[in-house]
Amino acid sequence: MDPSSVSFAAATASPRTSRARPEQLKVNQAAFEAHLSEAAQGRPRQADIELSRHSVFAGHEAGSGMVAQQPDMQLILVSNRVSSFDAGKPKTGGLAAALEPAVERSGAVWMGASGTLSDGSEQLTPLEQHGKGQVVKVDLPAAHYAGFYHGYSNSTLWPALHSLTERMSPESEEHYNSYCEINRAMARALSRLRKRDAIWVHDYHLLSLGKELRELTIEQPIGFFLHTPWPNPDVIERVPHHLNLMQSMLAYDLVGFQTRRDLNNFLRCLQVHLGMESRSDVVISEQGLTRCQVFPIGIDPQQFAEYAVESLVEYRQEISSIQDKLNCTKLAIGVDRLDYTKGIDNRIKALDLLLTNKPHSISLLQIGTSSRADIPAYSEYQRDIASLVEDVNRKHGSDDGCEPITYRKGHFPQVELAGHYRTADVGVVTLLRDGMNLVAKEYVAAQDPNDPGVLVLSKFAGAAEELNENMALHVDPTSPDDIAAAISAAIEMPREERIERYRAMINTLEAYTIHDWSKEFVRELYPSRGALPADHFRYLGFGWLNEAQVPMYATVEELNVAVKHVQDTRWILPESAAGRSRGGLD
Ligand code: F6P
Repeated sequence: MDPSSVSFAAATASPRTSRARPEQLKVNQAAFEAHLSEAAQGRPRQADIELSRHSVFAGHEAGSGMVAQQPDMQLILVSNRVSSFDAGKPKTGGLAAALEPAVERSGAVWMGASGTLSDGSEQLTPLEQHGKGQVVKVDLPAAHYAGFYHGYSNSTLWPALHSLTERMSPESEEHYNSYCEINRAMARALSRLRKRDAIWVHDYHLLSLGKELRELTIEQPIGFFLHTPWPNPDVIERVPHHLNLMQSMLAYDLVGFQTRRDLNNFLRCLQVHLGMESRSDVVISEQGLTRCQVFPIGIDPQQFAEYAVESLVEYRQEISSIQDKLNCTKLAIGVDRLDYTKGIDNRIKALDLLLTNKPHSISLLQIGTSSRADIPAYSEYQRDIASLVEDVNRKHGSDDGCEPITYRKGHFPQVELAGHYRTADVGVVTLLRDGMNLVAKEYVAAQDPNDPGVLVLSKFAGAAEELNENMALHVDPTSPDDIAAAISAAIEMPREERIERYRAMINTLEAYTIHDWSKEFVRELYPSRGALPADHFRYLGFGWLNEAQVPMYATVEELNVAVKHVQDTRWILPESAAGRSRGGLD
């Protein structure tokens, strides 16, 4: 069986985590499984009772235009935007690219904004079937959507999360209010989905959705994954209502980050601003227990490699039209949403420097996808990039009309992109900061293993934690000089070294794919609530959040060390946390 087709439900049946963690203690599998079967003989959980009585939507039955059958799913994903699921259409960003395969293969339901605004309360659209999964969209209140999306989410949180505080809009109480209203509306919409064994919330638009769901007395496990970076305490302090936001994030049972740096920043923010300590990345608050964990988002490298080969046939014309325009032998490629966090300006300045020193040494294919263009900072950035490209082309273009930069704006299907990556000698990713950056990973996956290109990667990309300096050429994205030097080294790199670096990168990508990412998150989320044996509850503060993590000790000495560790710690769990976290088993 194709392991990637295992459903979320099946994946969660396994108590083991997919990757051994250094801090993981020995787990006695037999004892754990025995406990699981004992637990299974106990009282059924409330959600299970509801499942047998209700269809997916409360109050919507067949004949009312809604799909009323019970799909084989237990997990609800929520994000602001949902994917188009159209193979011919490009993916709208990393989140969409990541969740689409997860939904199609797992049978989960994905809920997100429909793009249509309602004049009052939130409205649900009919379920759409996509593979094994389904999508449901919500019409959100018009009165608050702009303040939520353009305002607080993208003019306050987005720049702050990327540590670009100079880009933050002046404080607006109204925007924050709209942010809370939309999170509340999403929570109400979600509460109408009856079949929900666990909920997985995505990204900075919905930081407080977990808290809103708890207020609607939803007790199932709720996890959250942040696709962007999380900044340090000095930066987060600049965000209006940061204390409320961080507090509300503690309503989640599991909070996932792209990198260890983001996770550490978050824990430090809790410590500095809320005076909260963590132990083994677990935080105890009056809302219960929140486990923080790193899940570095990946891609499907095999699929991307196949796309690259396919593309050379399917998009032969598009690819050769770029090659024909080149006025030199080497090609670099940049593929970005047109966002000021992406550092496209410095990349173009680097090209200018390089071409000044070594005329005709390189061309750049820059693909730019318009994004959030009705926010002034974004439309200005688009204009700046266009004019920088013009300047460089004017300065370094040749008499026969060849220009060093081919700038193509628009959305491109992934298969076509893969072909362009394959033909480029250098992949240039010079973002100022990014949660992960999947372009870097896609570039690597699309390379010819026998003659691969070189990845020039910003040291501030989340991907730089995995694709380290032995693999990619790391650069300071604020320095055009540094970027120019790296591109120059890349085009001169001998084939043996390129192959060596490529192999290390592709092995890294294959070791943890997008399918591993989603399965691991859900596997960690499911048992994080309500499945813990009561007599183990007092150990929770030590990072054992489910049976799989409760250690069994090989020797009495080991046990004594652990017991001493427990006794020496003076944490007292608030009553409310204890009651709620045991929830389903009582
Ligand atoms: O985390 C960032 C993200 O949500 C990505 O999925 C995507 O790159 C981008 O933002 C999409 O932004 P928008 O939905 O505003 O176009």
